[in-house]
Amino acid sequence: MSIKAVVFDAYGTLFDVYSVTTRLESFCPGQGSAIAQLWRDKQLEYSRLISLSDSNHGGSRYYETFWAITCKALDYALQRFGQTLNEVQIQSVLDQYHALDAFAENAEVLIALKQKGVTTAILSNGDPSMLNGAVAGAGFNTLIDHVLSVDEVRHFKTTPHAYGLAQQHMGFTPAEVLFVSSNGWDVLGAQWFGFRVCWINRAGLPAETLGPEPEFQGANLEVVIKVLETLA
Ligand code: LAC
Repeated sequence: MSIKAVVFDAYGTLFDVYSVTTRLESFCPGQGSAIAQLWRDKQLEYSRLISLSDSNHGGSRYYETFWAITCKALDYALQRFGQTLNEVQIQSVLDQYHALDAFAENAEVLIALKQKGVTTAILSNGDPSMLNGAVAGAGFNTLIDHVLSVDEVRHFKTTPHAYGLAQQHMGFTPAEVLFVSSNGWDVLGAQWFGFRVCWINRAGLPAETLGPEPEFQGANLEVVIKVLETLA
């Protein structure tokens, strides 16, 4: 098989962040979804700002963990919507990040990959404690061979430092890796890096209009098995 490893993004791809929106909606009726969207956008904007502003090989001097950025981005989004949640409410929203459900089809897809003898990994902006908690909570410990966090290189995706972690830890060339993400920007960055890519388009969104179209795509993780058969 030309593909030796399937490497997954975490948030939105393996783990459903919807519970965060539900909790926000309960505290900010009518605005939960808009706040969650701005929160996510800010979280990603901060990660890019940090990595773009200093691309040193030893890590960005502006680096903060994804957890720290996530907390600051929530603070911004609440202020922007004029919401003043108390500390207990904020903690309760943030706690959802440590109790995310995996999407329903994921376990069987991961089991099928293990049966095919493919190496599996997560490569995420999330810091190790966030990722290890999510993996353990979903019961994926024996199904994911490597949990790779950009925290190790102190640069966020889509920098080559971040995607380079896959080769650093597993030894496979980018062309031997199928990178799977529900985030259009992540799929594009990974494709530019040299990975084979599969976009999980759960929300039925248009593809990014920048760069090449994703090489493969599907509505949920089950498409990964078909892609591997195509590339076999
Ligand atoms: C991840 C986020 C950005 O890297 O989805 O897991």
